[in-house]
Amino acid sequence: MTELMIDAQQVCKSFGSLEVLTGIDLQVPRGEVACLIGPSGSGKSTFLRCVNHLEKVTAGRLYVDGDLIGYRERDGVLYEISEKEAARQRADIGMVFQQFNLFPHRTVLENVIEAPVHVKGTPVATAKKRALELLDQVGLAHKANAYPVQLSGGQQQRVAIARAVAMDPKLMLFDEPTSALDPELVGEVLRVMRELADDGMTMLVVTHEMGFAREVADTVVFMDGGRVVEAGTPAQVLDNPQEGRTRAFLSSLF
Ligand SMILES: Nc1ncnc2c1ncn2[C@@H]1O[C@H](COP(=O)(O)OP(=O)(O)OP(=O)(O)O)[C@@H](O)[C@H]1O
Ligand SMILES: [Mg+2]
Repeated sequence: MTELMIDAQQVCKSFGSLEVLTGIDLQVPRGEVACLIGPSGSGKSTFLRCVNHLEKVTAGRLYVDGDLIGYRERDGVLYEISEKEAARQRADIGMVFQQFNLFPHRTVLENVIEAPVHVKGTPVATAKKRALELLDQVGLAHKANAYPVQLSGGQQQRVAIARAVAMDPKLMLFDEPTSALDPELVGEVLRVMRELADDGMTMLVVTHEMGFAREVADTVVFMDGGRVVEAGTPAQVLDNPQEGRTRAFLSSLF
């Protein structure tokens, strides 16, 4: 078992001639929470998408739980893995987006059991039992038979979290999970995320919620211009930033 759940070494990503990630070094130990902050366009979502194989890195190496993402290495040469192998790696990584992306024509319960049943082959009865437990944990057991349109944004996002956790991921990625929500609904989603962290889930969270970062993150990572400018404990990065760009970003938030 490797100690690092995410190990990014000089990860680069270009879209044509546009260099979006210019050498990301970022490590997230197993069981820890890292919050990724930074200005719009700095490459936060792109990095998350690389971790989850939705984008292919153009240089550098990205390991999740010791597995090289997207490639296989033999005698120092990298070979692209097949889409089927990529899907298998992806199945172990949960991702929650700003937009909840629930299936609109399926009930809450059907949304949560979809991937366990169709991707993992979990028997329907087993998947349903587990889904109801997870919905109970996020406070939505009573909405199991509702459709997404009948839920508030905060409720939909809690279902999206339960749906991701239903696959028993070893890592959860969150991309601004609360920024599409009305302010009064943010707290209920952050509470569910905090409980997940308390249960030992390894999490990489892009967020503007500095209170959450301060209280829940083991590490805060500040990105700008496609690279990590500064990383450290919340106290180090948020209260005593060493870099001018970090200070400028933090002061722009208030
Ligand atoms: N598929 C793509 N093709 C071309 N350019 C892209 C693509 N995806 C992202 N980019 C560019 O990469 C840069 C980084 O985008 P990214 O979405 O990663 O930023 P971000 O830090 O998540 O920003 P925000 O805070 O606004 O979400 C931007 O300049 C964006 O236009
Ligand atoms: Mg983004």
